[in-house]
Amino acid sequence: MNSDELKQRLGRRAVDDFVRGGMRVGLGTGSTAVWAVRCVGEKLRAGELEHLACVVTSSQTELECEQLGIPIYSLNHTHVGGKLDVTIDGADEIEPSGNLCKGGGGALALEKVVAYNSKRVVILAEERKYVARLGKSFPITVEVLRQARATVTRAVEAMGASASLRMAERKIGPTITDNGNILLDLTFEAAFDAGWLERELNAIPGVVENGLFTGGHYTVYLAKPDGSLRVLE
Ligand code: 5RP
Repeated sequence: MNSDELKQRLGRRAVDDFVRGGMRVGLGTGSTAVWAVRCVGEKLRAGELEHLACVVTSSQTELECEQLGIPIYSLNHTHVGGKLDVTIDGADEIEPSGNLCKGGGGALALEKVVAYNSKRVVILAEERKYVARLGKSFPITVEVLRQARATVTRAVEAMGASASLRMAERKIGPTITDNGNILLDLTFEAAFDAGWLERELNAIPGVVENGLFTGGHYTVYLAKPDGSLRVLE
């Protein structure tokens, strides 16, 4: 199966398995999570999911929901109350401990708020993203206040990272996140403890959030190239 078919299969399976009428559902970001959003849209149109409250994690997902007619709630809405029953999202890398690296789409800050406040988080990825150790082939993304680019760069370099400012495509200058911030993509030569690094990066003044998701309990659906799924709890 090609990559799009695998992502479509993952999205449908996650929605079939975990989304029920009346739930508060977090909708993730990216080319995989979007298939779960589309499946929610189909089921809503078919009248299979009543009284669903969906919370989006990015402007990409918001646009998709608008096109599909999926009603969106704020995480602050009294009906949601900052708590979700399930969130379905993608990831850039997953290691055997269950730690994740996210942020390829630059939506890591809201994705983390939503994931950390969901009873269940379902992560969808092609099997190639299941790696022995985070950060070897994909950078660790950090969302940073624009005014703090130099100071945060200096701080992460002192921690052994090389920092690269993520540049925009089809726009001159850096990528600006949904929150009006910039992104630094970090690579580390040496191995690191992901839980420690997640906390240390967020302790740097000017860092809004980073793409390491550690210490959570995720249900991970991995799609193999033949279309079969592997489930990790
Ligand atoms: C966006 C993300 C995405 O979930 C992650 O980048 C995976 O994206 P894709 O499914 O397109 O590979 O974290 O911030």
